Amino acid sequence: MPANPSSALADSRADPWRETLAGRYARVRKHSLALASPLSAEDQCIQSMPDASPTKWHLAHTSWFFEAVVLAAHAPGYRRFDSRFFHLFNSYYESLGPRHPRPQRGLLTRPALAEVHAYREHVDAAMQRFMAQAAMAAWEAAAPLVELGLNHEQQHQELILTDILHALSCNPLLPAYQDAEAPALRLAASTEPLDWIAMPGGVVQAGHAGQGFAFDNETPRHDMLLAPYRIANRLVTCGEYAQFIADGGYERVALWLSDGWAAVQAGGWKAPVYWIAPGDPRAPAEHWQVFGLNGVRPLDPAAPVSQLSFYEAAAYAEWAGARLPTEFEWEGAHGAPGMTQTTGHVWQWTRSSYDPYPGFRPLAGAVGEYNGKFMVGQLVLRGGSSATPAGHTRPTYRNFFPPGARWQFSGLRLAKDGSC
Ligand SMILES: [Fe+2]
Repeated sequence: MPANPSSALADSRADPWRETLAGRYARVRKHSLALASPLSAEDQCIQSMPDASPTKWHLAHTSWFFEAVVLAAHAPGYRRFDSRFFHLFNSYYESLGPRHPRPQRGLLTRPALAEVHAYREHVDAAMQRFMAQAAMAAWEAAAPLVELGLNHEQQHQELILTDILHALSCNPLLPAYQDAEAPALRLAASTEPLDWIAMPGGVVQAGHAGQGFAFDNETPRHDMLLAPYRIANRLVTCGEYAQFIADGGYERVALWLSDGWAAVQAGGWKAPVYWIAPGDPRAPAEHWQVFGLNGVRPLDPAAPVSQLSFYEAAAYAEWAGARLPTEFEWEGAHGAPGMTQTTGHVWQWTRSSYDPYPGFRPLAGAVGEYNGKFMVGQLVLRGGSSATPAGHTRPTYRNFFPPGARWQFSGLRLAKDGSC
């Protein structure tokens, strides 16, 4: 609470940013609960693998972020809902203390879901008070962190969907997250013929600049020298990927990177992870089917292929006589005439390692751990998926996952060397 409420109120009236951010805060927080609403309490507690977290944990952790980064640091007198939650729901912030082990998040049957909801309400009330009443100095220090917290929660909103989809895929009943197809989750099919867009290369600029929000990993904006290249006007479809499978794509070692071939052998990969082969006893049919948030559906040959690892994307590109674009080629072609499906369908694997841009500096304080320390052993994905909250991404946005990750809404767009 500010020392002088009346002057703080005058501050808030002079700053429409507060109202804008407070409104966004309410909408983003409400959307997380809406995404969880089709799920039972049992659904929301399950953890199907170490990489995926329970829905209940996501709901609590996103609240923890506001509590740890904004309220505890900038709201004098803030009282924590439960001091034990500071340990339970810290994800990976070493500077904020020890954490409950990530692979054991599914063991947290307590606190109950209702307690997590109460935790969210406690944090929401404190945040709304803070945004309305904080003195100007505290507000100016905290407002960028509120913005970061909202973008952080939107990232977890996508993870709520990807993680529960993996959990439900492990259930022999193959239950749907929701039966009706929500507009936000619809994968628009493409009937565009594959075409190649010639890009001249040369010195291009990459990275974020300007006033709007961006994560630190998108900065600084810098020059890149690109050779001439061609990039596909659209994403690779399920129908095209089915041809790769039918042509023995998962059986031809020459198409695969060494680590990718090892993953194929170790995991028995024969198709994208949620594809259901004809005759599969879990959902008998004479044709390929795909398990998704709306349950088991016939494979749509025109829909972008999804839930691919980097290894599978790279093997497909090899089979197709092409390659994956670098993240800089992808960004350079964004907005080029004829370029379609850049966002809202699937994240697109690139051939770029997740590295710092020249001159990159992490944010100050605990949030410096947000991105920079993960810049090794991962690949960049660009675009945005059908599960990404509307308005969350930008052309400079850098998503990243290890090359073997198969549970995200990730597909590919092809590229080739040369301009013709
Ligand atoms: Fe997080």
